[in-house]
Amino acid sequence: MKRILTIKAEAGMVVAGDVYGDNNHLVIPRGTVLTIDIIDRLKYYSVFDFYIEDDKSVKLKSYNMDDLERHIFSEYKIESGNYYKKIKEGEQFKIFENLFQESVNNITNCINAVVTKSEEVNIDQLLASVKKITDDFKPDVSLFDMIHCIEGYDDLTYIHSVNVALIARVIGHWMGFNEADCDALTICGLLHDIGKVMIPIEIITKPSRLSPTEYALIQTHTIHGYNLLKNIDIDERIKLGALQHHERCDGKGYPNKLRYNDIEQFARIVAIADVYDAMTSNRVYRKGICPFEVISIFEENIDAYDPKILFVFLEKIAQSYVNTEVVLNGDMEGKIVMINKFALGRPGVLVGGAYVDLSRQENLEITALM
Ligand SMILES: [Fe+2]
Repeated sequence: MKRILTIKAEAGMVVAGDVYGDNNHLVIPRGTVLTIDIIDRLKYYSVFDFYIEDDKSVKLKSYNMDDLERHIFSEYKIESGNYYKKIKEGEQFKIFENLFQESVNNITNCINAVVTKSEEVNIDQLLASVKKITDDFKPDVSLFDMIHCIEGYDDLTYIHSVNVALIARVIGHWMGFNEADCDALTICGLLHDIGKVMIPIEIITKPSRLSPTEYALIQTHTIHGYNLLKNIDIDERIKLGALQHHERCDGKGYPNKLRYNDIEQFARIVAIADVYDAMTSNRVYRKGICPFEVISIFEENIDAYDPKILFVFLEKIAQSYVNTEVVLNGDMEGKIVMINKFALGRPGVLVGGAYVDLSRQENLEITALM
């Protein structure tokens, strides 16, 4: 065993002891074979040095996380316009980023406390940090744009949990929920994936395709989540959100293949927020896809989701981009002028002074916002 500086680490080296980051959370466990992405992750968490097995090294195949994600998202065009660049450079985003980081730290500490010290979930503290964000930023699509601009690793830092909480809260507002229900829904978003802490980290972060056994193991995070929360004095809908957020209205979800009304409404909302965030948000190892492409994907899978919630959600998103300049495939530029309620992902666009109805032009699509 020998100590090595992270900047000297190389892919293929085998880690000799668990590596912890700030807040004492596990970054990678002993026995991990380093890849370029894992080394980037160590740098991201400011791990200065760690121990490796000095007589072991593994020859790696040439894939890494980036390749895998590129493969998963290869069917979709990558966002390439300047829309998000402009948001990222604005003053508002800096404020958002600080509040967001505070919220991520809070949920990380809270979940560590629940899991390692069997402490109670501090609901007030959890909610307060997210509400600091929603007090400063209107609960609308502009919040989704901010979320899109956050970059990081979501597997260990709970960025995804804060994103889902914010998106779910905005949906709650759009559905006309009162403040108490919006608060409970926010907590539900924050805790929906808590069961993932019970899944071995090497499976959660495995860069290659999961085997059927590993996939079945990942799916148990829903049951673990419910078990972690079931004896805690919180709203029952939050517990069911953890258990049922991978159920789908067409009965093709897990763990219990429930259908529409048998799925708790919070879980139906978190399901949409969860998938929307997975597709749109940027990660260090991949770029999010354009909201209009995401809307079209949801429309193609409409049976899986609660249609009432989904329609409100997608229509609000689509409407918010009226008057936004966009890039169409073939490097054409246009401006969204009209939303089509029957094809929300394919609005009416002005291209060079001519009106183009994308719902009638199958060969044309929006690939980026400008
Ligand atoms: Fe999940």
